[in-house]
Amino acid sequence: MAQPTTAPRTADPRTARPAATPEAAGDARTDAYTPEVAERTADVWERLKGTIPDIEWPFFALEIDAIRRLKAERNAVVLAHNYQTPEIFHGVADIVGDSLALARRAGDTDAEVIVQAGVHFMAETAKLVNPDKTVLIPDTGAGCSLADSITPADVRQLRARHPGVPVVTYVNTSAAVKAEADVCCTSSNAVRVVEALGARRVLLIPDQYLAAWVATQTDVEIIGWQGQCEVHARFTGDQIRGYRRNFDDLTVIAHPECPPDVIQAADFTGSTAQMIDFVHARQPARVLLVTECSMSDNVAAEAPETRFVRPCNLCPHMKRITLGGIRRALETLQPQVTVDPAVAGRARRAVERMLEIA
Ligand code: 13P
Ligand code: SF4
Repeated sequence: MAQPTTAPRTADPRTARPAATPEAAGDARTDAYTPEVAERTADVWERLKGTIPDIEWPFFALEIDAIRRLKAERNAVVLAHNYQTPEIFHGVADIVGDSLALARRAGDTDAEVIVQAGVHFMAETAKLVNPDKTVLIPDTGAGCSLADSITPADVRQLRARHPGVPVVTYVNTSAAVKAEADVCCTSSNAVRVVEALGARRVLLIPDQYLAAWVATQTDVEIIGWQGQCEVHARFTGDQIRGYRRNFDDLTVIAHPECPPDVIQAADFTGSTAQMIDFVHARQPARVLLVTECSMSDNVAAEAPETRFVRPCNLCPHMKRITLGGIRRALETLQPQVTVDPAVAGRARRAVERMLEIA
């Protein structure tokens, strides 16, 4: 498919923004989809032409072109979670990955500015490992149902109820909750972190389904909490079995935030990065990624040999991040993510301890 050459006639409401000044852009650029813009963004189009409709591409290309220029001006990097939409994931991200990779690589960058294309707890983690850098989140409303399910007071109560039992908190929590924990974990290292503590019983909070899955992988007794991911909790075992009846060559890969009957019906369970690695390594003929909707789009753009079955459960929080929002954040250097100094030190220790173990 040739790259679309028509300029958009109206602004896309999802990405509409005031035009950047030519001075800021460093040339006589206007907000028009010119052959120069098409040429500068041709590498992204090459990757996305099967994923993004032709008619939408000019809008995205303008934003991608502007964001690339702003990143260079600001000495900025964009960290994007695997659930970001393809135009962000493949178009402007410098570092992509699961929560663990983003936390780890946020600490490696030399950039002065980090834009978190993900949810708020991810931006807080980036700030914890980079206290002296400017960390931006394009939409401060990008939350997480797991992070919202537990407070620092809840953790203190749990400790009082289970004296001496170490607390492992999933990275999908606020910095204030992390500060109450002994160590963090992500879905890719939860089993290893739990076992590294050398305890007979461990509190693993707040995702009840992650805790239930970890309990099947270890002899350590796991005490959980009643949190749920609003996206993964919607999948059911019946749904998975229904897809299997329709496609006899189907490989099912589930995220550990899914309910136990979904995980039992799957062929493999792992973090978002582990799910992606599985697809690239095994190249299944047909796959169902039981997780957030955009992941299939992002992986499909790089796995032409695999067909994707796509039930679409969107994370409304991840979807608050748009190219327009990233562009505005880079133009204004706002909104900046801060962490209360009263909790930052303890929360950082919980994250660093996880990174040491993992
Ligand atoms: P991962 O760490 O597997 O990327 O998961 C993060 C998340 O929010 C899943 O819903
Ligand atoms: Fe939170 Fe679920 Fe969205 Fe992940 S997919 S950010 S766990 S609400």
